[in-house]
Amino acid sequence: MNKIIIHGGFPLEGIINIDGSKNSVVALIPASILSKSVVRIYNYPKISDVGVLIDILKELNVNTKINETYLEIDSTNINNTPLITAKMGSLRASYYFMGALLGLFKEAVLRLPGGCYLGPRPIDLHLQGFAGLDCRYEIDDELIHLQAEKLIGREIHFPFPSVGATINTMLAAVLAEGKTIIYNAAKEPEIVDVANFLNQMGATIKGAGTSTIEIIGVKMLHGTEYQVIPDRIEAGTYLILGAMLGNPLEINKVNPHHLKALLSTLTNCGVRYDINDDKIIVHKTDKLLPTNIITQVYPGFPTDLQQIITTLLTQCNGVSTITETIYSDRFQNCHELIKMGANIEIDNKQAIIKGKTHLKGTEVVAKDLRGGASLVLAGLIAEGTTIIDEPQHILRGYSNIMKKLQKVKANIHMST
Ligand code: EPZ
Repeated sequence: MNKIIIHGGFPLEGIINIDGSKNSVVALIPASILSKSVVRIYNYPKISDVGVLIDILKELNVNTKINETYLEIDSTNINNTPLITAKMGSLRASYYFMGALLGLFKEAVLRLPGGCYLGPRPIDLHLQGFAGLDCRYEIDDELIHLQAEKLIGREIHFPFPSVGATINTMLAAVLAEGKTIIYNAAKEPEIVDVANFLNQMGATIKGAGTSTIEIIGVKMLHGTEYQVIPDRIEAGTYLILGAMLGNPLEINKVNPHHLKALLSTLTNCGVRYDINDDKIIVHKTDKLLPTNIITQVYPGFPTDLQQIITTLLTQCNGVSTITETIYSDRFQNCHELIKMGANIEIDNKQAIIKGKTHLKGTEVVAKDLRGGASLVLAGLIAEGTTIIDEPQHILRGYSNIMKKLQKVKANIHMST
């Protein structure tokens, strides 16, 4: 099995270009089949999740063409094949085929989604959204069967602003009859990206990015060309790295508006950075200050950066805390950081991090995507050599991470 090998402790200098958003493109790819036509997606991230979704499209007789610049998806001759391939279980975002196939065919049979273990990840809110449109469903063993005579637009009130359930309900509603209103919708930038994409395909969606989204059903959609928004979590990951090792690091092709919660946290920690349009230049800070973080839905501090900023907090002089409010079990990476010398106590939903601790390289295991990224950053600041097992988790969400880090002088490579 491959491993990531890092020789840490060296400052990093240069430019890191950010790619398109993973959590947007994994919705845009399934959504494209609603056009039953040709869609081109530019600025797509070169991550393994994209490859898996392309394989799933093939099961539906949907052809794709991919090159460095765009991903082209032709769903002209799409078939509503039951999606029971094991690939459906390899990522969480396969669930977007539920909304897209239901929206297009009013019926679908799919294997339930998989993805990183961060605690229980039910899909009850997705099913509430579909049921709100008059869809019936049955779940037996690992398969779900969705069916609707007609999809009728109605008011749907989510008890929690779920990202996936908001997007999936939009996908099912764009071709429904009448108006759908989603109350307590998620407001993440990826929701806005999917709504903009669907509107470019001829949908009528208003209010994306607010907690109330209105969708007027239309008869059909058409093809389009679309550019994915920058990945705010990839950008945040490298900003946090720059705060510890930047000499300086220039993080390029970002949308600073999507990073406000992280940037204000970095300011609280005494980090110096300069924003210049779509570039952020970040300098390492030897006197990092402790802080307290509570993860929240957007625009609060993103749960996806919680594990990654934990590494930075081990380098702050004093006691920091992280309270995780979105997932019930998203501190797995702390056990690996402790192996490297971090001083972290987990108390139910809160991690208490005492710094500054001197991290030393050792062998650690990536248990999920963002936890794995936190270990890469820890290896880059640690003394000596860090070996990261199970690196495939990391490659699911970070385009060309090895090349990007090597380009800014990191001593990192994949063992074969
Ligand atoms: C998306 O997951 C992202 N994944 C996650 O990013 C991200 O952490 C999450 O949104 C929150 O921002 C993708 O976009 C592919 P949710 P999603 O529905 O849609 C519970 C990463 O690292 N819930 O907002 O699954 C759920 O268990 C990944 O890139 C229900 O209870 O997030 C969780 O505790 C990790 N029932 C909370 O809500 C449901 O039907 C947030 O889930 C749905 C969710």
